Amino acid sequence: AVTRTFSIIKPDATRRNITGKVTTMLEDAGLRVVACKRLHLTKAQAEGFYAVHAERPFFADLVAFMTSGPVVVQVLEGEDAVALNRKVMGATNPDNADAGTIRKELAESIEANTVHGSDSEENAAIEIAYFFKPEEVVG
Ligand code: CMP
Repeated sequence: AVTRTFSIIKPDATRRNITGKVTTMLEDAGLRVVACKRLHLTKAQAEGFYAVHAERPFFADLVAFMTSGPVVVQVLEGEDAVALNRKVMGATNPDNADAGTIRKELAESIEANTVHGSDSEENAAIEIAYFFKPEEVVG
């Protein structure tokens, strides 16, 4: 079924001016950008978004990185969008990502890993609602 997922192009990608390259890889994989905006996350926004990781040892570094520069938040639509996006992103750690994936080709490290993508349909709905009003998503 055609579904939606949520994506963040992270500060390592805006810094290197490769948001277009990342978006092309998403589009070439069969995903369609149905909502998009560029933001500089506040500390509170980043902490709220990643609240599930609050107890992890890397949480403070993650929040610092995600607020270190602009990001591009997107809603992506496609056939089984959550799984399709995870496939094109590749593994969280670029060292473990398959050739041709965004993280293998573009990521700098496990932290500066270029993209975030929702890990389930349920979280996709939560994450989309965190950044977009319904009328901002135009399919
Ligand atoms: P993301 O999909 O955005 O979700 C949480 C992020 O934490 C993850 O991608 C990584 O970029 C980041 N991170 C940093 N260090 C680690 C780690 N040791 N294990 C997992 N995720 C990490």
